[in-house]
Amino acid sequence: MGGTLYNRFLSEEINKYLEKTKKSFSLHKKAREFLPGGDTRTVTFFKPYPAYTTRGEGYMIYDADGNKYIDFLNNYTSLIHGHRHPVIIKAVKEQLKSIQAIHAPTEQQIKFAEIICDRFPSIEMVRFMNSGTEATMNAIRVARAYTGKRKILKAEGGYHGTHDYAMVSVHPSLNECGPLEHPKSIPEGKGITDAVLSEVIVFPFNHQEITEKIVRENREEAAALIVEPVMGVSGMIPPKDDYLKFLREITAENNIVLIFDEVITARLSRGGAQEYFKVTPDLTASGKMFGGGTPIGLLGGIEEIMQLYSPERDNFLSQSGTFNANPVTMAAGIATLNLLTVQAIEKINSLGETLKKDILELFDELGFQIQVTGVGSLLNIHFTSEEVLDYRSSLKADKELNFLLYLSMLNRGIWIAPRLMANISTPMSSKETEKFLEILKDALTHIKPLIKEEKPDLMAK
Ligand SMILES: Cc1ncc(COP(=O)(O)O)c(C=O)c1O
Repeated sequence: MGGTLYNRFLSEEINKYLEKTKKSFSLHKKAREFLPGGDTRTVTFFKPYPAYTTRGEGYMIYDADGNKYIDFLNNYTSLIHGHRHPVIIKAVKEQLKSIQAIHAPTEQQIKFAEIICDRFPSIEMVRFMNSGTEATMNAIRVARAYTGKRKILKAEGGYHGTHDYAMVSVHPSLNECGPLEHPKSIPEGKGITDAVLSEVIVFPFNHQEITEKIVRENREEAAALIVEPVMGVSGMIPPKDDYLKFLREITAENNIVLIFDEVITARLSRGGAQEYFKVTPDLTASGKMFGGGTPIGLLGGIEEIMQLYSPERDNFLSQSGTFNANPVTMAAGIATLNLLTVQAIEKINSLGETLKKDILELFDELGFQIQVTGVGSLLNIHFTSEEVLDYRSSLKADKELNFLLYLSMLNRGIWIAPRLMANISTPMSSKETEKFLEILKDALTHIKPLIKEEKPDLMAK
């Protein structure tokens, strides 16, 4: 890719975007005076500049120039009930009438904890924090405290937030990541020390035999194995066959704490991916949707491990946070889970699965060989003709086509992730997923001549 034809298609979409987002352009210009690159969240930035949003309502978002979009990104899966759900807003408003943030526990945290423990098979006890990053960071630390070991095993391409131990082999390039049998631990940019790298052992997701070998090689030193049940940032890659069950067995056998990072996958069933795939980890790190639009992280697990945090014990583990279990988040979280009934989850999962099937049919109709991965309400398009089953196969997707399709969808009123991830929120119906399909068809039909010319391997033979 990257030929003159690609540049022509890209310029056309960029010019459309510049024309539609003039106010966002001036806001970005101003932002660059005070914020490096004009933003403060790496994942939300794209060139030439991201559109500034001003309002969200259900599944709709509106930008500073008055453009409207159907939101299939939902703050990266965290807004499972869309924007400003009236029940959540009411709960937050009620909460604000009594107490906002406080240096003492409130009854709300007991209520919220009880609901979570009731729903998630692995969660007997829970701690609250303010981000998924803190959740995985604490999961790793408590696993070390529990086992007395120091290393962690993580999947290549797995994303667990932005603390140092998570910033290893998230997006390594193919030429630096070493053989599949022994992936190298690659720092995610500068600032990650060799000490960290020496303690993070990387394994390839969905490759049972290789994973087994790596786990066995490191069993004496590995405190934990952390994994997303469905690989999110790598492109919503589902686990193969019994891979999660195998991880459960091999970790139990080797005294390694199994941590499921359910920051994204908690939405898959009433009890998260662990219930969906019927595999129970020792610890669950999560966040996102539980906050109902407010910041949250949570770490739950078996009582024997979680009790290490109890301040009633000698040598307990410290885990403070000024806004941990803040009453506003607790109120929004309780309202969110009360709304998230089995029926609501079945609805979004079924909309997501149907959309995935329809997208595949659309690719057939247009003569493309392109992949769609995902589970339930989560999906991801990949511009590769090869099956996507791990991080390395996800790298085969054409990044330039990815970006072109992203911008084309945005210009046509559908907001997804630049990596082509989409997810369904509960206010949506088949009307919105059909609109998604219609716009996808329009965008793909438009770029078909480009694909035929510059990426013929994506065309059916
Ligand atoms: C699987 C996974 N783990 C951890 C995180 C980090 O969560 P947060 O952004 O709340 O720190 C994310 C965020 O996208 C995630 O997708």
